[in-house]
Amino acid sequence: MTASHLDPPIIELTGVRKTYRSGSIEFEALRGIDTGIDAGEYVAVIGPSGSGKSTLMNLLGCLDNPTEGHYRLAGEDVSEMSEAQLAEVRNRRIGFVFQQFNLLASLPAWRNVELPLVYAGMPRAERRERAIAALGRVGLSDRTENRPGELSGGQQQRVAVARALVTEPALILADEPTGNLDSGSTADVLDLLDELHASGRTIVLITHEHDVAARASRRLIISDGRITSDERAGVTP
Ligand SMILES: Nc1ncnc2c1ncn2[C@@H]1O[C@H](COP(=O)(O)OP(=O)(O)O)[C@@H](O)[C@H]1O
Ligand SMILES: [Mg+2]
Repeated sequence: MTASHLDPPIIELTGVRKTYRSGSIEFEALRGIDTGIDAGEYVAVIGPSGSGKSTLMNLLGCLDNPTEGHYRLAGEDVSEMSEAQLAEVRNRRIGFVFQQFNLLASLPAWRNVELPLVYAGMPRAERRERAIAALGRVGLSDRTENRPGELSGGQQQRVAVARALVTEPALILADEPTGNLDSGSTADVLDLLDELHASGRTIVLITHEHDVAARASRRLIISDGRITSDERAGVTP
């Protein structure tokens, strides 16, 4: 699925700044971000530790608001939404994958995967069916009843990917999803992201590993809170 240049970008950031304040100390983590991401793109965000990658991801994921500037997600300005509105947009449009998996240890895999559907208010039987189907898509049909502690790191991250895709979100945000995985599990998770991309999802992946970033079709390099480079695969700058 290729988005035409006439489609509005799924993500539009204009003049986005983020300042953290603790007491009298201020730190500007994002210093003017202007960019757009089209539906169906697979974008890697690369940069050194402390450059603002997670801050950017939190804004893209509606987990936080910019201090200045605007963020339009699928045409909706989310920069000034209330916490409740942000939660609704998050649940409806976005799937998250984190470095630490962020699974609930006391719940079997399928119950972790169904959580976004619980928040969306879906009836129980349908939730279970969808969660088990999502676990099938990540190759874990035989692990639906296992708790996270009974799974390998790679399997836990696949459960997290199933949780991210169970709501069929247009946008998948992954912050260092392979940061805690061995090379075999890294390859599995990157293959899953490739499949999600091929099925039309927009993917934004944060990494500091260049071989991981090489899987994306576009690379945004971020340094000290600014985008310093924007490269598309096959296009020599
Ligand atoms: N909640 C916070 N309060 C104060 N400073 C923060 C906070 N979160 C991040 N920072 C600072 O903002 C900068 C960017 O952080 P972050 O976005 O986590 O970078 P990255 O993910 O690229 O490592 C860092 O200097 C970090 O110390
Ligand atoms: Mg980070």
